[in-house]
Amino acid sequence: MNTAEELFHLQTAQAEICQCDLKTLATQAVFGHGSANADIVFIGEAPGAKEDKEGKPFIGSAGKILTELLESIKLSREQVYITNIVKYRPPNNRDPLLKEKADCSAWLSAELSYIQPKLIVFLGRHSLNHFFPEMKISDVHGQLFTADLPHIPTRHFLPLYHPASSIYNRSLRAVLVEDFKKIPALLKKIARTL
Ligand code: URA
Repeated sequence: MNTAEELFHLQTAQAEICQCDLKTLATQAVFGHGSANADIVFIGEAPGAKEDKEGKPFIGSAGKILTELLESIKLSREQVYITNIVKYRPPNNRDPLLKEKADCSAWLSAELSYIQPKLIVFLGRHSLNHFFPEMKISDVHGQLFTADLPHIPTRHFLPLYHPASSIYNRSLRAVLVEDFKKIPALLKKIARTL
């Protein structure tokens, strides 16, 4: 088995054991997508309607923005890994509940342990606050920080606004573009510490 097949296998196994209540409401699980050897993992919140229908993360309007932001720093979706805290669509795109996030967390940890990224990028407050409940996205976006977390194989984290936030608040698009621009240099900096 190659790494992509192994990661697919791992996710299929996680989907079987995942006890999240959303499982019975969603069309299907939305697996993480991208390179199994990625240096960067982007973690969003939960699948939306399009993701639920097609089984791929970030392929709706927020996904289009994410793809453009990646391209702006010369990265393709295939070079990074994109996933969500919650693997099943919450009804009517409501915020995922604490229990739903907790029930999907073993799956996320398994993906991260397999990929061993150098950097984890949180897309939005749900993703950030799942790991760091005390942080405010408006205070910390675009700022690399280090921390040791149980079951998480990197110490390097970068919180960013969720791409969808720039649909409702146009001024956040420029902030996202500037924050994304920092990623290549941050990766180089992290590589020097490894
Ligand atoms: N928003 C998310 O957080 N994840 C997706 O997959 C799509 C939209």
